[in-house]
Amino acid sequence: LKLGLIILAAGLSRRMGHLTPKPFLDLGGKLVIFHSLDFFSSLGYISDIVVVAKEIYHPLFPSNIKLALPGKERQDSLRNGFNKLKDSCDWVISHDAARPFLYKTEINKLIDNRQGFSALALGSKVKNSLKIADSDGTLKKSIDRSNTWEVFTPQLIEYALLKKGLEYIQQNQIICTDELSIAEIYNVKSKIIETDKPNIKITEPRDLELVKLIFEGYRG
Ligand code: C5P
Repeated sequence: LKLGLIILAAGLSRRMGHLTPKPFLDLGGKLVIFHSLDFFSSLGYISDIVVVAKEIYHPLFPSNIKLALPGKERQDSLRNGFNKLKDSCDWVISHDAARPFLYKTEINKLIDNRQGFSALALGSKVKNSLKIADSDGTLKKSIDRSNTWEVFTPQLIEYALLKKGLEYIQQNQIICTDELSIAEIYNVKSKIIETDKPNIKITEPRDLELVKLIFEGYRG
C-alpha cells in the first residue's frame, strides 16, 4: 500500500470572523493544523504528505512536507495538492485541517475495509430532523433521515480515480465538497465507515470553544 496524504488548510474561514484561517489558530498550545500533521506523520506508513495552504504559512512546515497553493474551491485546493503527490501512490487520504481529532482506530477502519471499494469516508448517521427551507427559513419539506449520513474527513480514495475525477469535475464545472462525490460520478463502489469519535470541523467561533473542551479529554 502506497499512501499519499493531502491536508487541506487553504480555506478563507469567512464564517470564523477571524483574519487567521482556522487551521492556523491555537488549540492547546499547538496550531490546529499541526494536530493533524503530527498525527499522520507519527503513523509512519504514509509515503508522501502535501499540505495546501497560503504561501505566507509555508515557512511553518518542515522540509519533508510538500506544499501547495490554495485554489478557489476546496476541490481546486485538492487538485493543487494532488499535483504534488508522487504518481507511485496507489491510494490517497484527504483531510480537512479544520478537523483536529484523529484516531488510529478510525484510520485503520478506512484502510482495512478498502478491499472492494474505490473510496471510503468516516461518517455518522444523522440524529436530528432534516428540512429543506427557503433562505428566509420558510419550510419547504422534510427529508427522511433513515439511511442519511453526515460524512467527514479523513477520506480514502484510489489515486487513479481521484486523478481522473479531479480533471472531470474541473472540465464540467461540477462542485464536489468531498471525495465520495467523485466515486459517485463514476458509479464505483464506495463506503461510509461509521465513527462514534468526535469529528468536529471548526467552522464558526463557537466550534473552537467546543473543540477546546473536547481536546481536554482527547487521546488519539
Ligand atoms: O470550507 P470548508 O469548511 O468545507 O473547508 C474544508 C477544508 O477545506 C478546510 O480545512 C479548508 O481550509 C479547506 N479548503 C481549502 N481550499 C478552499 C476551501 C476550503 O483548502 N478553497
